[in-house]
Amino acid sequence: MSANPVPGVSPDSLVEIRDLVIGIQRTRKDRLIIVDSANFDIRRAETLGLVGESGSGKTMVCRSLIGTLKRRSASIFAGSIIFDGLDLANLDERQWRPVRGNRIGYVPQSALTGPNPVMTVGKQLGEAVRRNRKRKDKDVRKRGMELLDLVHIRRPEVVYDQYPFQLSGGMRQRVMIAAAIAQDPDIVVADEPTTGLDVTVQAEIMKLLQEIRSEFNMSVVLVSHDLALIDEVCDRLVVMHAGTCVEVGTVPDVASTPLHPYTIALNRSRIDIATPGAPLVTIKGNPPAVGEWPPGCRFAERCDLVQEDCAVGRNPALVEVRPAHWSACLHTELLGGSHG
Ligand SMILES: Nc1ncnc2c1ncn2[C@@H]1O[C@H](COP(=O)(O)OP(=O)(O)OP(=O)(O)O)[C@@H](O)[C@H]1O
Ligand SMILES: [Mg+2]
Repeated sequence: MSANPVPGVSPDSLVEIRDLVIGIQRTRKDRLIIVDSANFDIRRAETLGLVGESGSGKTMVCRSLIGTLKRRSASIFAGSIIFDGLDLANLDERQWRPVRGNRIGYVPQSALTGPNPVMTVGKQLGEAVRRNRKRKDKDVRKRGMELLDLVHIRRPEVVYDQYPFQLSGGMRQRVMIAAAIAQDPDIVVADEPTTGLDVTVQAEIMKLLQEIRSEFNMSVVLVSHDLALIDEVCDRLVVMHAGTCVEVGTVPDVASTPLHPYTIALNRSRIDIATPGAPLVTIKGNPPAVGEWPPGCRFAERCDLVQEDCAVGRNPALVEVRPAHWSACLHTELLGGSHG
C-alpha cells in the first residue's frame, strides 16, 4: 500500500486528471473555488461513474472535459487534464476544436437540453457529422442515417427529416447520442443522460450507451444520482463531495469495502435498497456550500466517525488505501481499510 495521491496511474489510462481546480473569477482579486483537487483517471473503454450530491461539482468536472466551462463563467485555475499528450486544462478555443465533439463527445441531460427544437434531426446530425470538415451532402445524409440506425431508431429515413417535437423523449436522447458518437470519439461524457425519462426508457438508453461503448471501444463518463444504475453499468466510480473527490475505485471494491464515510452514507440513503415501510435514511446535514468550505475534511461535520484531527488543516488528499482504491478519509482504519 502506498501513500500515492495519484489515483489510477495505469497503462490503460486515457485521461489523467490531476489536482484540478475549477472556479469563477468574480472580480480581479476574488475567486470562488467550486472544485478543488479533482483527481482521477479515465481508462480506455471503461464506464466511469461520477456520483455525489447536488452541487458537488460533477457538471463542472464534465465541462472541463469538453471545454465548456466558460459557458458557466467558470475556468480552470490549476491542475491538469492529460489526454493523449494534450493538457486539456490549457487549450485555447482553436485547440479545443479538434477535441470537443471529435475525440470527446457529450450527451447532455435529456430533460433540460436536448436537440435544438427548430432544426430537423438530419440538420443537427449533419452538423455533428461535418464538424470542421467539408463533406458532400449525400455523404452527410448517408452517415446520418447510419448513426440513427446505430442508435436503433426505426425508419431513420423518416426520422431524419423530423423535428425534435415529433419524437418521444427517449428518441430525442437517442438522437443526442447519435450526434455525440458521430466522429467516433474516444470518450463520451454523459451528464445525467437519463434524468427526466421514464424508467423503461432510462434502461434502454443505458443499454444503448453500453452497447456503443463495447462496440466502438469508447470510454464513457456517466454522471448519475442513481446509484443502482451506477452499480449496474459502471466499471469504476468517483465519489465527489463538496468540490473534491473523496473515493475512487472499482464498483465491486467500493461496494464491498467502501473507504469513505460519505460513500457509506450515500449508499445508506439509496431508495432502491431501502426496507419497505422503514423511514428513508438521509445523509445528516448538508454539504458545505461553495465558498464556505470549513478547514479539514468537508464531510467532518456530517460524519458519524469524526475524530479530533478531521476538522483541522487541509482537506485530506486521496490516498491509495487498498490496491487501486483511493480514499480521502484520514481514518479508514475505522472502516475496514488501513493506511499501510
Ligand atoms: N456561475 C456560478 N456562480 C456561482 N456558483 C456556481 C456557478 N455555477 C455553478 N456554481 C456552483 O458550483 C457548484 C457545483 O456545481 P455543479 O453544477 O458542478 O454541481 P453538480 O454536482 O453537477 O450538481 P447536480 O447534481 O445538481 O447537477 C454548485 O454549488 C453550484 O451552485
Ligand atoms: Mg450537474
